[in-house]
Amino acid sequence: MDLSSTEQSPKMTLLANYQVPRYLVDEALLHFDLDKAKTRVISTLKMRLNPASEAGDCVFDGDSLDLISVKLNGKSLADSEYKVDSKSLIIPNVPEQFELEIITEIHPDQNTALEGLYHSGRLLCTQCEAEGFRRITYYPDRPDVMTVFTVTIVADAKQWPVMLSNGNLEEQGQFNDGRHWVRWHDPHPKPSYLFALVAGDLYCQQDHFTTMSGREVTLRIYVDPENKHKCDHALVSLKQSMKWDEEVYGREYDLDVFMIVAVNDFNMGAMENKGLNIFNAACVLATPETATDDDFYTIQSIVAHEYFHNWSGNRVTCRDWFQLSLKEGFTVMRDQSFSADLNSAAVQRIDDVNGLRSMQFAEDAGPMAHPVRPNSYIEISNFYTVTIYEKGAEVVRMIKTLVGDKGFRKGTDLYFDRHDGQAVTTDDFVKAIEDANSIDLSQFKRWYEQAGTPELTVNTQYDPVQQRFSLTLRQSCPATPGQETKLDFHIPVAVGLLDSDGNNMPMQLAQEKTAYDGDTRVLSLTETEQTFEFIHVSEEPVASVLRGFSAPVKLKYDLTNTQLAFLMAHDTDSFNRWDAGQQLMINVLLQIVDDIQKQNTLALSPLLLSQLEAVLNDEQLDPALIAKMLTLPTENYLAAQMPVADVDAIHQAREFAKRQIAVSLKPLFNARYESLSKQKKYQFNAEDMAARSLKNLCLSYLAATADPLQMQRCLRQMKVTDNMTELLAGLRLMVDQAGSEREHALRAFYEQWKHDRQVVDKWLSVQAVSKLPDTLLRVKALMKHEAFNIKNPNNVRALIGQFCRNNPVHFHAKDGSGYRFLAEQILKLDKLNPQVAARMLGALNSWRRYDIERQELMKASLEEIAAQKDLSADVYEIVTKYLAAQ
Ligand code: TRP
Ligand code: ZN
Repeated sequence: MDLSSTEQSPKMTLLANYQVPRYLVDEALLHFDLDKAKTRVISTLKMRLNPASEAGDCVFDGDSLDLISVKLNGKSLADSEYKVDSKSLIIPNVPEQFELEIITEIHPDQNTALEGLYHSGRLLCTQCEAEGFRRITYYPDRPDVMTVFTVTIVADAKQWPVMLSNGNLEEQGQFNDGRHWVRWHDPHPKPSYLFALVAGDLYCQQDHFTTMSGREVTLRIYVDPENKHKCDHALVSLKQSMKWDEEVYGREYDLDVFMIVAVNDFNMGAMENKGLNIFNAACVLATPETATDDDFYTIQSIVAHEYFHNWSGNRVTCRDWFQLSLKEGFTVMRDQSFSADLNSAAVQRIDDVNGLRSMQFAEDAGPMAHPVRPNSYIEISNFYTVTIYEKGAEVVRMIKTLVGDKGFRKGTDLYFDRHDGQAVTTDDFVKAIEDANSIDLSQFKRWYEQAGTPELTVNTQYDPVQQRFSLTLRQSCPATPGQETKLDFHIPVAVGLLDSDGNNMPMQLAQEKTAYDGDTRVLSLTETEQTFEFIHVSEEPVASVLRGFSAPVKLKYDLTNTQLAFLMAHDTDSFNRWDAGQQLMINVLLQIVDDIQKQNTLALSPLLLSQLEAVLNDEQLDPALIAKMLTLPTENYLAAQMPVADVDAIHQAREFAKRQIAVSLKPLFNARYESLSKQKKYQFNAEDMAARSLKNLCLSYLAATADPLQMQRCLRQMKVTDNMTELLAGLRLMVDQAGSEREHALRAFYEQWKHDRQVVDKWLSVQAVSKLPDTLLRVKALMKHEAFNIKNPNNVRALIGQFCRNNPVHFHAKDGSGYRFLAEQILKLDKLNPQVAARMLGALNSWRRYDIERQELMKASLEEIAAQKDLSADVYEIVTKYLAAQ
């Protein structure tokens, strides 16, 4: 690609160029004449000059619209009185205050991008974040223009019996010609990205919630009639979320009705449209027979996430899209602590950190690295990233750590109070916390401004004569695209000291007069290097550093395997206990990788084995934690720990270790498996989930012994279970073993579940991540199967996405077949759905970290994509940045 030919390449938007909107919209009346082939939209806008701006052209955004007419103050405008191009409508010489009527036509059934108004199954629905509203009508489509919307929908009553929009239903009626109409009014001013409309023949499950001030709120979940038995879990989750936000943040719901709609074709998880959340069906529908524990868990957290947006996002929204983490980072942090409160806090933290380290650290170390508050973008859809969401959540969590729970609540109260109804910035958020706590977070704000994962190096020294222990912390941060050097971060480092029995020791600092009360203390690292001196330390401690993962950094702390084993057995902080075990496993696995590369004979560390045995034997430990502690790091995560990732050796090393562990501890896995196998009716609660996770983990080790009898066991588990968690675990293991049993199990599973999309997606995924050598051929064959439709993002993610991201040995096949396959799919997808195409490209994020041969092959695939003309802005931006990677 010729990067110098910038004239047709999509243009960059810069934070530095932010200007307030010139015209404001006081009221928007939208009238929809719904039809799936051609919908007519009449938009009537009451507009006025922004007092903070100067008069000039009035500019509206628009995309893929047929403009029918424009009227200003009741008078039709001639073609010469406005300008329209593919991206905008410009009206010069408007008065200070005016009413505008714009009529457009759109084509929902041709909308495969799933932005704007589109047709999905037998539904019509919208997706407007970030910039989808401009595909519905011309509008100042930016979050700092907030408007009161009134929406009238007219459509055929038979085909579209249910018609929904934001806010409260005001009126409805019938026409004589078989059409009917409804009018919705949302009293809360909102940006266009929160607009929503849904129509279709939907089943509705209703419930209610009484708010803390005693108001009755009607709750409704709308689903395709065949899914009417799948709503209970989401409804329970919604009520839990409403209660939690009242208790923990003092936030009450603010409309008479709260609606959730499940849609099969959806680009992401869910969308927080005011009063009318729209969900990917996979993120809302669940029964024990069709959804796994992980699904139940995810649904609970996504329902909470979208609900929490009502305050963190909707009541207080973003000034511009550079501020995206203002709502997303904060809301993820809120949903994570909700999940921690309702389930196991330790397991929640382990999962959150695991996700952050495997996905976000890779993003932060790659060509798309960007700050939590980015400075520029080409396509905003590309910035709904793990950095904005997950690292953004960590940044808010660190603020909470620094000011404490009470201080944080004071801060958020002030934030919601001060900015209710406004569109604000991450600076405004931090300012509210500062003002409420009289603290200075100016250095801390660098977390919003600087990309890259800081490294935290730990050195310790013990003086037995003085009884002093010194802990030296040093920080650095690698260069990222556009940011060569970094300033020091303000890093909260939670530390504990353990004596040789594993008890916490007192932590009085040299400059302090009195003892410190508590087992863990948070040290603030604000300089490049700082030494903390602890006094009255009676024996040399083992320091447990970064407890609870108090900051999103890479810890460089050279503990011996013996010390790691000690922490793994004794740390009182369960996160660090797990993490010590992971680090021990990483050390052991990387040693095996090294032995494979040197063609040495392989052996598994007896130390690791004895630690795992102890964990498995621990009757006191939460079974969910045992399962986490016995799970080896993924191949992808191991790859990220090597200077040059050796995919094949990593795979071989991990398989070897797994089998060694399985064979050595087989009697224990057996016993645990059997003791957890008492048939019990499925329930979604922390205790039962924990039991199932350990049971399935034991089964996966038993299967790794390669004893054919264990396949019978998987089969038996599949036969007797009443739930998808155990059924899928069995199938997953069978799919890794070639043979007729495998084929039979797959066929039977499909026959049983082919009517259920969510289950069929699981069936696609287990095949996509299979270890068997012909997996890519299978994946290609499945793309022609009736179960697969490339226009459905869930299908694409389940099959293509899983293969490319979670099957590293096959995706990174030496012959480049995986890369060529991905390039081909991306080019196909880009014509249909650019957002999904761009996300699939993410599988090549770390392409510079592989051997030269693979780099060349990946580069060739990237160049093939880049050479395509008429690439979407989405794919263009990512492929260009990847190719520029050093
Ligand atoms: N705001 C949504 C969320 O956090 C995510 C979102 C952004 C989205 N853009 C989208 C969802 C496009 C679906 C489609 O929860
Ligand atoms: Zn969100």
